[in-house]
Amino acid sequence: MKPRLTELRLTEFKTFSEATLPLGRMTTLIGRNSSGKSNALDGLEVLSRLATGADLVDALDSRRGDEGPLRGGVEGCPPHGMDRFRLGCTILANAFDGDHDYLRLDVTIQVRPEPEIISESLVGVSEKRHAARKSVNRTTRELFRTTDARPGSGTVDATWHSGRRGRTPEASFQSTRLLTSQLPLRLGDTKAEWQVADAAQDALKTLRGVFHLDPVPHLMRQYVPSRDIRLRRTAENLSAVVDHLAKHDPERFRQLISHVRGLVEHEVTGIEIIRSQLDDVMLALREDGAITPAREMSDGLLRFAAIATSLLREGQDLDLGARGMEGDRRSPTLVIEELENGLHPSQASQILGLVKQATQEDASQVIFTTHSPALLSALEPEDHRHVVVCSRDRETGLSHLRQLPEMDGYPSLMAQGDLGTVVTSGLLEQASARPRDFTEFDRLMGIS
Ligand SMILES: Nc1ncnc2c1ncn2[C@@H]1O[C@H](COP(=O)(O)OP(=O)(O)OP(=O)(O)O)[C@@H](O)[C@H]1O
Ligand SMILES: [Mg+2]
Repeated sequence: MKPRLTELRLTEFKTFSEATLPLGRMTTLIGRNSSGKSNALDGLEVLSRLATGADLVDALDSRRGDEGPLRGGVEGCPPHGMDRFRLGCTILANAFDGDHDYLRLDVTIQVRPEPEIISESLVGVSEKRHAARKSVNRTTRELFRTTDARPGSGTVDATWHSGRRGRTPEASFQSTRLLTSQLPLRLGDTKAEWQVADAAQDALKTLRGVFHLDPVPHLMRQYVPSRDIRLRRTAENLSAVVDHLAKHDPERFRQLISHVRGLVEHEVTGIEIIRSQLDDVMLALREDGAITPAREMSDGLLRFAAIATSLLREGQDLDLGARGMEGDRRSPTLVIEELENGLHPSQASQILGLVKQATQEDASQVIFTTHSPALLSALEPEDHRHVVVCSRDRETGLSHLRQLPEMDGYPSLMAQGDLGTVVTSGLLEQASARPRDFTEFDRLMGIS
């Protein structure tokens, strides 16, 4: 099993307090507008940006680079009225100590007067399964943790597991960068310290592999240099990526053509690449004897082509920007907001099929949000375990996350129809007169 994220902890972040987002290979995040879905994904983005080891302000606020600042910047991270935020994640990292081992990274950042880290820890969790007793024995080991923060000093003290009896190492770290990223340079050379360094690298690499794909159709309608083959977040260089796919991965190129053909009503016979004299390229469709360049293609089709390409490539050749470090050959975590955006409802199962194909054998992990009943209907019952419903408490304003099958009334609701139908047809409303617990489900799903 390759390392991947299994949990995001939104301990104190934007609309969240002590919330946990469980992550499977494919995670679907649903809920009403402004319920906190993007806030949760912002939390993951924060950890991913910090995993580069960049200065906090540069990582979260900088207008440099193609990523731009995080939504709301560093000041927007703490819940309103607070001056600090706290995030964490769990990573399935079997490289560590045994077969089923996890790493837990948690960090608290104070944003005023200057952003700095005031606490951080990295914990290793080992699991031993007893088949006969059907139990799991879990042991935790603190690999690294801050001991003393002196806000304003620019430094923070920390200690780590060295394997030496009676001697606890301690050192000062810069408080403006993720301490875990500074760790490998500080450690000594005992076996235990090597393991701590490996664990830190595993956690950082996994986090750096988070890729928020946000295709912008109008940016895809231009010529791009053919060597620009790493897909950018906006998919503006899709034409070059598809050109590369056509040359080096004919099987997946064929699959892309077949998916595009399935999307549109008219006859598409192929995908062509138009090349300028300067070797700039533009994607084109061969349709009804004519050639339609990307410049003339529809928004939905371009967006679909970008998502399909990234999924078919299983996240290979993504432009991770500052996060794409030498030697990082990890399964990426693709984050796609409103997966169905611009797609006709009839295409729901096609795009879902692509997501599932991409997540097979841990090739990549996909987290997406959706408002589409058609997409929800296309989910299989076994996918529901990783459908997370995000809702916002009217009184406290706090966001809550719940796995769909754990919601009250779930079994009887599903007996009445698939998820999309249940959400749109008002079945829940009709049912609410009988079992007491459907009203709450209706409210959370935005029906009442
Ligand atoms: N720092 C913060 N503290 C408290 N609340 C915040 C903070 N930042 C954002 N919010 C709240 O979160 C809301 C935005 O939530 P979010 O963007 O996660 O919604 P969403 O579920 O993605 O909705 P949509 O489906 O419309 O995209 C804001 O309207 C605001 O009410
Ligand atoms: Mg959103």
